[in-house]
Amino acid sequence: MTEPTPEATAHEEMLVRFLAEGGEELTHGEALAQKLGLTRADVFRHIESLRARGYLIDAVRGGYRLRAAPDRLTSLELGPLLDTHDFGQTILHYASVDSTNARALDLAEEGALHGETVIAEEQTKGRGRRGRTWASPKGVNIYLSVVLRPALTAERAAELTLVAAVAVAEVVRELGVEARIHWPNDILVGRRKLAGILCEMATRQDGSVRFAVLGVGINVNARLEDFPDEVRPLATSVAMELGRKVDRAVLCARLLGKLEEWYDRHGEEGLAPVLARWRALSGTLGARVSVQLDGEREVTGIAVDLDDSGALLLRDAQGTVHRVVSGEVRRLAPA
Ligand code: BTN
Repeated sequence: MTEPTPEATAHEEMLVRFLAEGGEELTHGEALAQKLGLTRADVFRHIESLRARGYLIDAVRGGYRLRAAPDRLTSLELGPLLDTHDFGQTILHYASVDSTNARALDLAEEGALHGETVIAEEQTKGRGRRGRTWASPKGVNIYLSVVLRPALTAERAAELTLVAAVAVAEVVRELGVEARIHWPNDILVGRRKLAGILCEMATRQDGSVRFAVLGVGINVNARLEDFPDEVRPLATSVAMELGRKVDRAVLCARLLGKLEEWYDRHGEEGLAPVLARWRALSGTLGARVSVQLDGEREVTGIAVDLDDSGALLLRDAQGTVHRVVSGEVRRLAPA
């Protein structure tokens, strides 16, 4: 099994923060040594270690300046950008892993705390909904899973996917991507998939949730040729939509912030505000869709609303309203 990326030392993390704060200015080695309570030789050693981790650091007349951080999503890159209390405060990062959800489920089983996050540069067995695979090319997208310890019944746990869908849609829309949520939690631009959410959980015998793992995949800088042939006609990425690459670390930190913000709001205020935002961001409501109801029966109609529990309400041609709790929704051309 692949091992996680070795963690940077606390001194290295602080050094990156101080250099980042310095911006274009040189920060003198002596000043860094004093801030860190180290000798200048120690500072130099840590600078070398950061360079070995891919940081470009200028050294001019005894001062240092951060020129570029590597395009990678470890806590060293994300830490200075994070504005969360739990989500991403502990990150287990893999250069390559089978599935971040699988790793996070193991971690949760071993006692991981609420908010602990698994991030990978590549997944070899990325999991999608309904047993599908999630194409996870290396170093270009975001694949992350957050361990959650919610006080919820298993019945209500599906609400977490709506919470995540709202957070993901908001964060990519803030970049200018015209993404919409398709019931229950596909994030699409037009008909192409930009992001997916997979929530998996373990329950107690009394029906309450022991823990849940919220997995999010966002296609960020992938180009069509990065995806396998069969996915190409259906996929898009933030970069493809905007016509430029975006900073993955900045987007990832914002995503963790949004996920936490909406998770907390759901905990405090319940599903109502989530549903209101979901409706506003929906690409399903008002559309003609068909749904496979119970594996066999297919119903076609207009997606009219979500009910208070997040189920989709579908009105067929006879005027009968069907309540859809789970199923595969296909968008059809207007009748
Ligand atoms: C979907 O089919 O729409 C859900 C896709 C979810 C993919 C993400 S990527 C990070 C996390 N780890 C996984 O194995 N799956 C989820």
